[in-house]
Amino acid sequence: MASTQTWDPDRYAKNARFVAELGMPLVELLAPRQAERILDLGCGDGALTMKLAAMGCDVVGVDSSAPQIEAARKLGLDAWVMSAEALNYETEFDAVFSNAALHWVKRADDAIAGVWRALKPGGRFVAEMGGCGCVEKIRATLLAALARRGRDGKAADPWYFPTVEDYRARLERRGFRVDYIALLARPTPLPGDVTGWLETFAESFIKCVDEHGRKAFIAEVRDALAPKLRDANGTWIADYVRLRLSAIKPPAAR
Ligand code: BEZ
Repeated sequence: MASTQTWDPDRYAKNARFVAELGMPLVELLAPRQAERILDLGCGDGALTMKLAAMGCDVVGVDSSAPQIEAARKLGLDAWVMSAEALNYETEFDAVFSNAALHWVKRADDAIAGVWRALKPGGRFVAEMGGCGCVEKIRATLLAALARRGRDGKAADPWYFPTVEDYRARLERRGFRVDYIALLARPTPLPGDVTGWLETFAESFIKCVDEHGRKAFIAEVRDALAPKLRDANGTWIADYVRLRLSAIKPPAAR
């Protein structure tokens, strides 16, 4: 089943601003230089793309969501609707940067092949995505709540959270030299109730339930997660695990 996830820029800004804010260590790993041509793959509403532009990079953003690209263009960015699995660039970029996007891409080899094509020889691919075990408590609770309704949520699961070994093998098979790849646990405080997170990121699961039952479904998932994810101060902390990587298209490659 294809993902039924959609992106509403206003909802995203309210519930997910932390995604870009927590992306700065990845920008540091990229270490962008003035006037470098950089592709921001899965740029969303362009919050991090703007940071790269402000650092003097010649940056292009792509995202599969038309509303998010519209929001990015309103910031004055050069941004295009394009899926990660069908990148349409040829030997053009000094670096491809991607934050919090590739765990939505099930055909990882197609995305990696597109990144390879888009890079100049010697270009770098610097990315962070959900890694093996990411939001496991949330995912298991969603699946259990669907199972109680007689639904198998696995077919609706939109996420791909790879291991280090899996993603490294894919990169190396395409020809990349992997300089760094690691899984990092990053418990992530949410800006509000987990309900906002679920409505923003778990739409594919929620849509498995009839429209009139969705409110109760979300409340049930929230209540089951409270003892697992809410701390003594009432802050919700999502069980994020990141896969962070830096890889090079060797200078002699074509
Ligand atoms: C993320 O943006 O990193 C993310 C989104 C949905 C599920 C897990 C992680």
